[in-house]
Amino acid sequence: MPNESVSTESFASEVTKPTKGPKLRLAIIGCGGISETHLKALKTMADVEVVAGVDIKPERLDVMREKYGIPELFEDWNEMLEKVAPDAVSVCTPNGVHAPATIAAAKAGCHVITEKPMAMNPAECQQMIDAAKDAGKLLVCGFQFRYHPNTQMLVRAREEDQFGDIMFVKCQALRRRGIPNWGVFGQKELQGGGPMIDIGVHVIEMAHYTMGSPKPVAASGNVWTYLGDKSSNVVSQWPGWDWETYTVEDLAIGQIRFENGAVMQIEASFAAHIEKDVWNFTMIGDKGGARWDPTAIFTDRAGTMTNTTAGFLPKADFHTLFISKLRNFVDGCLHGKQLECPGEAGMAVQKILDGVYRSAEAGSEVTID
Ligand SMILES: NC(=O)c1ccc[n+]([C@@H]2O[C@H](COP(=O)([O-])OP(=O)(O)OC[C@H]3O[C@@H](n4cnc5c(N)ncnc54)[C@H](O)[C@@H]3O)[C@@H](O)[C@H]2O)c1
Repeated sequence: MPNESVSTESFASEVTKPTKGPKLRLAIIGCGGISETHLKALKTMADVEVVAGVDIKPERLDVMREKYGIPELFEDWNEMLEKVAPDAVSVCTPNGVHAPATIAAAKAGCHVITEKPMAMNPAECQQMIDAAKDAGKLLVCGFQFRYHPNTQMLVRAREEDQFGDIMFVKCQALRRRGIPNWGVFGQKELQGGGPMIDIGVHVIEMAHYTMGSPKPVAASGNVWTYLGDKSSNVVSQWPGWDWETYTVEDLAIGQIRFENGAVMQIEASFAAHIEKDVWNFTMIGDKGGARWDPTAIFTDRAGTMTNTTAGFLPKADFHTLFISKLRNFVDGCLHGKQLECPGEAGMAVQKILDGVYRSAEAGSEVTID
């Protein structure tokens, strides 16, 4: 299970630039949008050398060469793994390619960090975990929101027993109108699903981590598609998505029961008719409750009901969060530092996603192994 003890080293603002010691030779597989966020974060690390990039689209390889100066570029990861033999790879492909790329890289002797969600389903996650274990290599699932200072504050409050038994958690990742108009986010066979697996996964992951990573045992869910597969000639923050290939849900609602009796509700949408986008979770425990954003803890103190908010939290944006997650991976590869988010943590989240989708398909509650 993930390292539950949170140290201040996890805060992005405290990441340092090492100047001496070994270098990690790292390759990127999948050179699209998120790979650029990886590359900007890796650029801050003097102990990382990006040695190669792989993409099936030559124009993306041109970007890697011209904008980032990556020296070796390939259209096939097997060729790259054989010719370059990197120490580690970062898998930034669509979800359906995470497992084959990870397994090939692990078999070739590489440590792997893979983008979220870990894969399409728990069976793929298990194959990835097994491949890394057999090769004696590290496998990290690249969830960055557990490094967010709001999350870290709530994890510490839970470790201080400010919440008691956490009974109920409500997760929301809702866009009023935000169907991605790039990549393959609308194609179920390549992504595994829509907003639940793409954005719900982030809020589920940070909430599950904050709860102390209880074991999910049952799921109930529903999904609906009512807008994404219609003409995209409507107002949207990202207009003109590919509605003709759109096969994922627009809205997913789920409920998870955990072995310890806790319940998590999940709402995820690319296109919800609501006032404005929501990205948050709330928790109710038998001693206290919390809200992720703006972060607050609700308890009884000094004989009254009190609301605790942070006097200071470190700055966090996409860049600093990616530095945190990649720094932990690099330190694990180079120095054996404990991994914050190993493959097993990615698997736990995948089981939750899979449970919601299976239940929606079955029309009834399903058990989670
Ligand atoms: N952590 C985050 O906050 C975050 C944010 C955005 C995306 N992501 C994840 O990153 C992944 C990629 O998303 P994106 O927005 O960069 O998508 P994208 O479409 O911009 O990039 C994916 C790239 O992978 C390439 N690719 C596809 N098949 C390949 C193959 N077989 N071999 C090599 N390259 C291949 C595509 O050509 C494309 O350039 C997804 O899993 C997504 O969930 C994570």
